[in-house]
Amino acid sequence: MANGLLKGKKGIIFGALDERSIAWKTALACVAEGAQIVLTNAPIALRMGKIKELAAQCNAEVIPADATSMADLEALMQKSMEVLGGKMDFILHSIGMSPNVRKSIPYTDTNYENFLKTVDISALSLHRVLQSAMKADALNEWGSVVALSYIAAQRTFPGYNDMADTKAILESIARSFGYYYGFAKKVRVNTISQSPTMTTAGSGVSGFDAFYHYAEKMSPLGNASAEDCANYCVLMFSDYTKMVTMQNLFHDGGFSFTGVSAGIVEEMMKGQGQ
Ligand SMILES: NC(=O)c1ccc[n+]([C@@H]2O[C@H](COP(=O)([O-])OP(=O)(O)OC[C@H]3O[C@@H](n4cnc5c(N)ncnc54)[C@H](O)[C@@H]3O)[C@@H](O)[C@H]2O)c1
Repeated sequence: MANGLLKGKKGIIFGALDERSIAWKTALACVAEGAQIVLTNAPIALRMGKIKELAAQCNAEVIPADATSMADLEALMQKSMEVLGGKMDFILHSIGMSPNVRKSIPYTDTNYENFLKTVDISALSLHRVLQSAMKADALNEWGSVVALSYIAAQRTFPGYNDMADTKAILESIARSFGYYYGFAKKVRVNTISQSPTMTTAGSGVSGFDAFYHYAEKMSPLGNASAEDCANYCVLMFSDYTKMVTMQNLFHDGGFSFTGVSAGIVEEMMKGQGQ
């Protein structure tokens, strides 16, 4: 569906691990729409992941950066501008990891060292990315930064654990930094709250399969896929959304505003033998 929406635009895509990653699909969609990109991920993910395959498909350079390291991010901003030949227009923050989720530590027994890591990696990293971009003056006016969130920021989903609190912080950082970056440079900052999606990060959440199928049945349009999310990111990077900032945008087939669906009621009745 390429329409040249990002022709002439340049950007950084964080978080493509394998072909299921939302960032992977977004990288491909951005390039198909005419953008020039740099790919980045944590050094360990670069060793384990398949990012070189994606880089070849996107004709993109891969620059390692741990999103919890200011030094890495400052170097990333400079190198990206060198490689792309100037300032950039968009950044995708597609980063999430919780050691408590990985180790299946229940929320009420949380390990606080782990909790701090979750917040550092999955939320403060957005602040770091924005701060390093602003200090390096790496984004053109009307540039667009998107981070990915989940509805557990607003409502409780058992199993999502400390990622729920962390997504609430992430969304708040998008609002707060969006205010300052908007006044300073007309740069917009938004989060996209995506449906459950079968990826490495997604399927690490306990009971994820049930979440996924429940959301599919609850949502009038069904779950939004990673490809759908990539298209929404493209739109958010394009000039068609230039006045949208500081928002948390639900991209979930209507899940967030549905109380209950007939399909779910039917399942419940079946469960009760009716
Ligand atoms: N999959 C879902 O159900 C779902 C739903 C809503 C939102 N999201 C969000 O989408 C984003 C992308 O996740 P995904 O589902 O594509 O999974 P994914 O596992 O493919 O991507 C997560 C990425 O975060 C990267 N990362 C982890 N620690 C990092 C660090 N220190 N520095 C830099 N990168 C680091 C990983 O290497 C990986 O590439 C996350 O923010 C996630 O919370 C996912």
